Amino acid sequence: LVTLTIDGTEVSVPEGTLIIRAAEMVGTNIPRFCDHPLLDPIGACRQCMVEIPDAGNGRGFPKPQASCTMPVAQGMKVNTQVSSPVAEKAQRGMLEFLLINHPLDCPICDKGGECPLQNQSLSHGAGESRFGMAKRTFPKPINISAQILLDRERCVLCARCTRFSDEISGDPFIALVERGALQQVGFYEDDPYDSYFSGNVVQICPVGALTSAAYRFQSRPFDLVSTTTTCEHCAAGCELRTDHRHHQVKRRLAGEDPEVNEEWSCDKGRFGFMYGRGEDRITRPLVRRDGVLQPASWPEAIDAAVDGLRAAGSAVGVQTGGRLTVENAYAYSRFARAVLGTNNIDFRSRPHSAEEAEFIAARVAGRSLAESVTNLDLEKADHVVLVAFEPEDESPLVFLRLRKANRKNGLKVTTLAPFSSRGSDKLNAELLQVAPGGEAAALDSLELDSGAVILVGERAGVLPGLLTAVAAKADASGARLAWIPRRAGDMGAIEAGCLPNLLPAGRPLDDAAARVDVSSAWGGTPISAEPGLSAVEQFAAAASGDLKALILAGVDPADLADPAAALAGLEGADFVVSIEQRQSAVTERANVVFPAALVEEQAGHFINWEHRERPVALVNRANRTPMTDLRIIAALGDALGSELGFRTPADAFADLTELGTWEGARPSGPKVADGGVPEGHVVSSWRELLDASSGNDYELALRATARPAVVRVSPATAAQLGLGDVASVSVGDAKVELAVMVTNSMADNVVWVPANPGVGSGDRLPAVVGSPVTV
Ligand code: SF4
Ligand code: FES
Repeated sequence: LVTLTIDGTEVSVPEGTLIIRAAEMVGTNIPRFCDHPLLDPIGACRQCMVEIPDAGNGRGFPKPQASCTMPVAQGMKVNTQVSSPVAEKAQRGMLEFLLINHPLDCPICDKGGECPLQNQSLSHGAGESRFGMAKRTFPKPINISAQILLDRERCVLCARCTRFSDEISGDPFIALVERGALQQVGFYEDDPYDSYFSGNVVQICPVGALTSAAYRFQSRPFDLVSTTTTCEHCAAGCELRTDHRHHQVKRRLAGEDPEVNEEWSCDKGRFGFMYGRGEDRITRPLVRRDGVLQPASWPEAIDAAVDGLRAAGSAVGVQTGGRLTVENAYAYSRFARAVLGTNNIDFRSRPHSAEEAEFIAARVAGRSLAESVTNLDLEKADHVVLVAFEPEDESPLVFLRLRKANRKNGLKVTTLAPFSSRGSDKLNAELLQVAPGGEAAALDSLELDSGAVILVGERAGVLPGLLTAVAAKADASGARLAWIPRRAGDMGAIEAGCLPNLLPAGRPLDDAAARVDVSSAWGGTPISAEPGLSAVEQFAAAASGDLKALILAGVDPADLADPAAALAGLEGADFVVSIEQRQSAVTERANVVFPAALVEEQAGHFINWEHRERPVALVNRANRTPMTDLRIIAALGDALGSELGFRTPADAFADLTELGTWEGARPSGPKVADGGVPEGHVVSSWRELLDASSGNDYELALRATARPAVVRVSPATAAQLGLGDVASVSVGDAKVELAVMVTNSMADNVVWVPANPGVGSGDRLPAVVGSPVTV
């Protein structure tokens, strides 16, 4: 560590830390525009000036220095604007220079309200400009791509956008051109800014110079409600900040998760949120009557679906597409196996093979994050081999991670492909040229060791023998192996049991003990040992009359392995239930169509390619349809006389994770302090905010929100005491009867009860803490 003094406070930081970051560690925010922790330092804006009276060698700098480019030194003394009039004057001077030409159009600028320049002008700027001249103007705005607009007069020339494009995404289609007051972001007229990651420049531009066509003039930032959630498009599982106003999503920004997407997102995730707004959105159930799909009430549609499904018995195929949260996928899995009595369930409406299902069962399903290759592993690897996998198109955030590792750590990338794509070029990948089908032999020719990682894409599933060869190569060389599917719901569907040969939590269907386990968790309903049909087999069986009914959810016709065969299957089936967000060739053929909620209209989780749980938050409460896939399936289960066992995503998630072997990236349990588990049972308690005390005894509405009295215990304590729904708790002579709440994070042998006096009842124990308790 290097020890230095900032504004009189001594701090020790790792060698190489920039002064601007060291200052953050002592709580000082030095103003900045060009500095960004994920971009290389450049010192372009000169806003972050500090005074350095001693550079660690007994001598100081005669003039203020940029703190974002200078690393710390042992014994250095730094004075920021907090303690140094010199630093403060330098920063104020830079701000004054910037504002000579920056327009004061904050009221109509998209960035107004969340603009660092605006904030800094407020805190450090002069009230009046000393320069009376007319401001520099440019024709505005200009499109640097179809999605990105540039208002050049607002630019502060920080070069964040140009550095992002050059360093992070490798798309250097924009650059700072001209000099002096005319310096501006330039682009090639006949070669516009073409990048899958262009929206990031809008997000990191510190002023309103770069805006997106989708969000321009849509809202003021302070009118937006922001929700942290997960992108629904690909298996990266990027954290997003979704901003909505008047129940309409206005924009999506990349969230910050260093282990997943850092601070970036791809343009599909950022701009792909309007798909539920069109005329083709299904907002009410439809039932086919006299050959025509007609609007119906929910009970009518459920009755119609139940009639069709009853007639089909277990000759039903279920296909779940790639858009489902793990909770929704689990609802279909349990519905197929426990309610319909079939293992005909498959999430792969895309091209697939039996070899792929075997590979997934053996190498992918039921893994925990700790057993998986992660984004951080990619950064540390010596060599990454891409097999039937094109990261920039098929998993763009994996691409950014690989590019970072190549740029910063010299990661060697080898791609087995017929040509060197633009993405491979940006990874400086070595091309091992193969025609499709030649990958296995090519992979075999590579020298790999335990520092290598093989990334294999879903396309490998249709190249016979390739997945088997990839697994063998990993085993023989010690290289780590990750299978990266394309869609957000794919990994969750596997964990939920949406493959014919796999029960939930990665349990093989052909294992009798696994079937018994799942069956007992599902209330004893026997699980058929009969192997299920894949999606392709289901369509063929429906076409030949062997399957009577199909239930299709989130099956995108654009994904279908063989659209003609799928159509023949749909035509051949007696009965088709479609659970969809938008009209499609599938809904057109269906006998009953149920409208499913969008991802922004529900909560749940995706499981990303690393096996990491990614929380999905309810963003929009004004749903255009009230029912999620899970609720629809639960309603069908009820109507068929066989309850699903859960009705909410939280219950479904708990149900699935209880099945055991699969552990995602759930935080591990709390650390238990030494001596944290008492010998006998002791009581813990506090007085809840809303109680019967005189501070709120007249506030009926307030008191109505008082929490119901419960007794909380850990799962182990509940099991040990054999507690049911209600327990009688005694401390000394006092005794109460309370509902039992099992709380996962509760310490074992501790019994928590609310202290008296409770609202509306006297059934509380006195505020005794640490006393022995009987339950
Ligand atoms: Fe910086 Fe924005 Fe100008 Fe790019 S457009 S140089 S990000 S101020
Ligand atoms: Fe330091 Fe721009 S933030 S020069």
